[in-house]
Amino acid sequence: MKTTAIRKQMTIHPEVMDVLNEQIAMEMHASASYLAMASWCDQRELLNSKSFFYKQAEEEREHAMKIFEFINDAGGAAVSPEVHNVNNDFESLRDIYERSLEQEINVTQSIYKCFKKARSVDDYASELFLQWFVNEQVEEEDTMRSILDVFDLMEGMPLKMIDERLPKE
Ligand code: FEO
Repeated sequence: MKTTAIRKQMTIHPEVMDVLNEQIAMEMHASASYLAMASWCDQRELLNSKSFFYKQAEEEREHAMKIFEFINDAGGAAVSPEVHNVNNDFESLRDIYERSLEQEINVTQSIYKCFKKARSVDDYASELFLQWFVNEQVEEEDTMRSILDVFDLMEGMPLKMIDERLPKE
């Protein structure tokens, strides 16, 4: 009886669980958004960008799943989110990468919010878990900024030529 009670004890703080569930929704939205970008690139035979965004879509889903499993492992209740308002309308390839950077910056701010919440309620396990995401966001923002630098350097060049200089993943 006693061991059952111990096993069922929730280690995640309820307020942290709430912000992490919001984060799951945000990561799934990012995944859907990257999928829309992949489709735009795929239709225009922009092969590197197409692969890049399909990969990003997968990675964002992995991020969501990482948080999802963490919440349940920590005795909380992960919620499968609804994903709304996915934009499928883009002006250009540059517009897509600019939106991607903006999206990553918003995700970073949201991760910081989760991190701060975990710290403020002394939820050390969640704080340590979130460290990985803090580092991941540094990399993701850096990738998007580097790609936008390529656009600046190659301004006026044909789109396919620019695409060939961009990373596939
Ligand atoms: Fe999971 Fe790119 O943020």
